Amino acid sequence: MDIEVLGRYLSTLPADDDHPYRTGPWRPQTTEWRADDLDVVSGEIPTDLDGVYLRNTENPLHPSIKHYHPFDGDGMVHVVGFRDGKAFYRNRFVRTDGLVAETEAQQSLWAGIAEMPYVAKREDGWGARRLMKDASSTDVIVHRGVALTTFYQCGDLYRLDPYSAMTLGKESWNGAFPARWGVSAHPKVDDATGEMLFFNYAKDAPYLHYGVVDENNDLVHYVDIPLPGPRLPHDMAFTENYAILNDLPLFWDATALAQGAHVTRFHRDLPSRFAVIPRRGQLEDIRWFEADPTYVLHFVNAFEDGDDVVLDGFFQGDPEPPDNGMGDKWQRAFRFLALDRMQARLHRWRFDLRTGHVKEEPLSERITEFGMMNATQTGRDYRYVYAATGKPGWFLFDGLVRHDLHTGAEDHFSFGEGVYGSETAMAPRVGSTGEDDGYLVTLTTDMNDDASYCLVFDAARVGDGPVCKLRLPERISSGTHSTWADGAELRRWHTADSPADALGL
Ligand SMILES: [Fe+2]
Repeated sequence: MDIEVLGRYLSTLPADDDHPYRTGPWRPQTTEWRADDLDVVSGEIPTDLDGVYLRNTENPLHPSIKHYHPFDGDGMVHVVGFRDGKAFYRNRFVRTDGLVAETEAQQSLWAGIAEMPYVAKREDGWGARRLMKDASSTDVIVHRGVALTTFYQCGDLYRLDPYSAMTLGKESWNGAFPARWGVSAHPKVDDATGEMLFFNYAKDAPYLHYGVVDENNDLVHYVDIPLPGPRLPHDMAFTENYAILNDLPLFWDATALAQGAHVTRFHRDLPSRFAVIPRRGQLEDIRWFEADPTYVLHFVNAFEDGDDVVLDGFFQGDPEPPDNGMGDKWQRAFRFLALDRMQARLHRWRFDLRTGHVKEEPLSERITEFGMMNATQTGRDYRYVYAATGKPGWFLFDGLVRHDLHTGAEDHFSFGEGVYGSETAMAPRVGSTGEDDGYLVTLTTDMNDDASYCLVFDAARVGDGPVCKLRLPERISSGTHSTWADGAELRRWHTADSPADALGL
């Protein structure tokens, strides 16, 4: 392995930090690395694996003003690239305006999600809640060959080089970016059309917008989706002809909100509402469907089946788990992050466009979330979901499940005690001949070895374990959202001697 330190950031976190989401598997990194020719610990790097795996991470540099929440951390993107049977690694902080300001001040300047806004030391900010730091630490996608990082509370889209993770600047959509509202995490790219579909939300009416950016990076559609009040949507889905937005009954308590406090409540007496809108539809084209109350953090996919729009995602049996007295103070405080406490399970909604009826059913008894699929099938009928299992009581992924939606079969792999993975992206094999013909890629935080690895699985044989295990330069923090970009869709990938040389880095 050929390693070089590209940069180091100064952390002001205390040496005796006891916050479980800033220590142990969540210990943040301060070093940015270049590593070429990654060492193969076991197996072999498949020669028909070609492209980059990108993963965002909440990686804080400074103590919060009062209370840290793991969604507050600064964005750091990890890249593992594969070409010609070799692999390289890069990691970089996302150079957000917030990171730049806090690096200069050497302290946190904005209030996090678990803090009252008035503790902030700055009077500006971002986010649906307003006055927050846009850490761009939630998700990462690739549109038109450029990686874009996002923030769950809505903010800028930061443009990153997908090989080096270097920040290139903010996305402007040729001047049309909705800067006041920003964009939520989980914009969706349709590989078939080159379009990117997105939403944003805020505390002001109409509370939600939906938009489309075309293959030329122009904002070609942007409509109001009026809601009864402020909501907290986190994800959306699309089919070949429709986009699906949501109004779910987990949102800020109105009484507390009137007094400036952002307290999330599950309103068990309200239905879940789903908006089905033609992809270039107007307000009057929206069809609303009502379903059982729940909260859905992530959808996997949607598609059309005759008159039905079918939507798959993770239904939460208990979106507001009570404090049951189990575990230490931290586990109780962060019980909302544990998949077992939320009772998250794969679920299917069927919206009949002809009758307006809704049918819904669980697709699995197993608790999973963070479902990924072969992205070439997004918006179309599909068969396989690759999802994460969670360590009970914690926001940590302890294994991987391949759900076969046709047979109901589940193929499970456990990372083992003390080993945690990230969202596992599906990489179609070069020359792939079927939906399941490819690899799954994830990054682990291995507390037993005090190391991190990149694991590659055969997507059709998850239970067999990784076909390849590569060592990263150091143990990285646990993290969640990821994506895969084929080499073929990345500019310069095949025009430089090595992908990492493409930018001279
Ligand atoms: Fe998410």
